[in-house]
Amino acid sequence: APDIDVAAVQQDLKELQSVAEANGGNRAHGRPGYRASLDHLKQKLDAAGFTTTVQEFTSGGSTGYNLIADWPKGGTGATVMTGAHLDSVRSGPGINDNGSGSAGVLETALAVAKADLEPKKHLRFAWWGAEEQGMVGSGHYVDSLSKDELGKIDAYLNFDMIGSPNAGHFVYDDDPAVESVFTDWFRAKGVRTEPSEETNGRSDHASFKRAGVTVGGTFTGAGARKTRAQADKWGGTAGEPYDACYHSSCDDTSNIDEKALDLHSDAIAHAVWTLSS
Ligand code: PHE
Ligand code: CA
Ligand code: ZN
Ligand code: ZN
Ligand code: ZN
Repeated sequence: APDIDVAAVQQDLKELQSVAEANGGNRAHGRPGYRASLDHLKQKLDAAGFTTTVQEFTSGGSTGYNLIADWPKGGTGATVMTGAHLDSVRSGPGINDNGSGSAGVLETALAVAKADLEPKKHLRFAWWGAEEQGMVGSGHYVDSLSKDELGKIDAYLNFDMIGSPNAGHFVYDDDPAVESVFTDWFRAKGVRTEPSEETNGRSDHASFKRAGVTVGGTFTGAGARKTRAQADKWGGTAGEPYDACYHSSCDDTSNIDEKALDLHSDAIAHAVWTLSS
């Protein structure tokens, strides 16, 4: 897999911050900053040659949108799907939660296009709406698939918060095979990961898991506090939250650990290449 350029991921985060600033300070479901975020990503994916679809749904009386991007080359059966929620909470621009996962997935998709990849499996990328309302967008997507379409999804990989400023290095432990694709890669980089406890049932992978799809992903931590043992192996500050700005107005472009963002963005590309080949 190619190395994802963290400068490109950071640029995407700057752009999402600008989208929030131009739209009342957030990118929340039902607010104009959400649709503007989606349009911004869609334009980049269309230009790179993806087939994009905007799926609409309703939540809390407002229209929500998922962005789905299919890569036209490669296999047409078994599908590897990779996604991130694109909505923020109303209190801020949502740069770590979840500009970070959205940008890491976007740059991986753009790397697929740049490599003109023809994988054995079909590649589909998704950016979900209304995660913060209870994983509404991803739930709507899963419910919209036929049994047949659902059965084609080999694995769904989810990325929600991958640049936390006091970062941990967590890997979802839902499926051992997908988990080791990540843990082996991190180990080779000298990073000792931990199984993610904070994520269980709490992001869009839960929508897929509920429907029987194999899921995986990585995470750098939300509002829980880093332990002394974790600070000893990962650096950062023991006794402080992984992300002190979680769901706050200060979750802006300064609320990112670039090393974590770089590492986890590269991990996304590694998993997409490995699982689709
Ligand atoms: N999904 C939660 C949120 O967006 C936080 C979270 C992130 C939980 C990643 C689990 C995994 O606020
Ligand atoms: Ca990189
Ligand atoms: Zn959140
Ligand atoms: Zn989130
Ligand atoms: Zn790098």
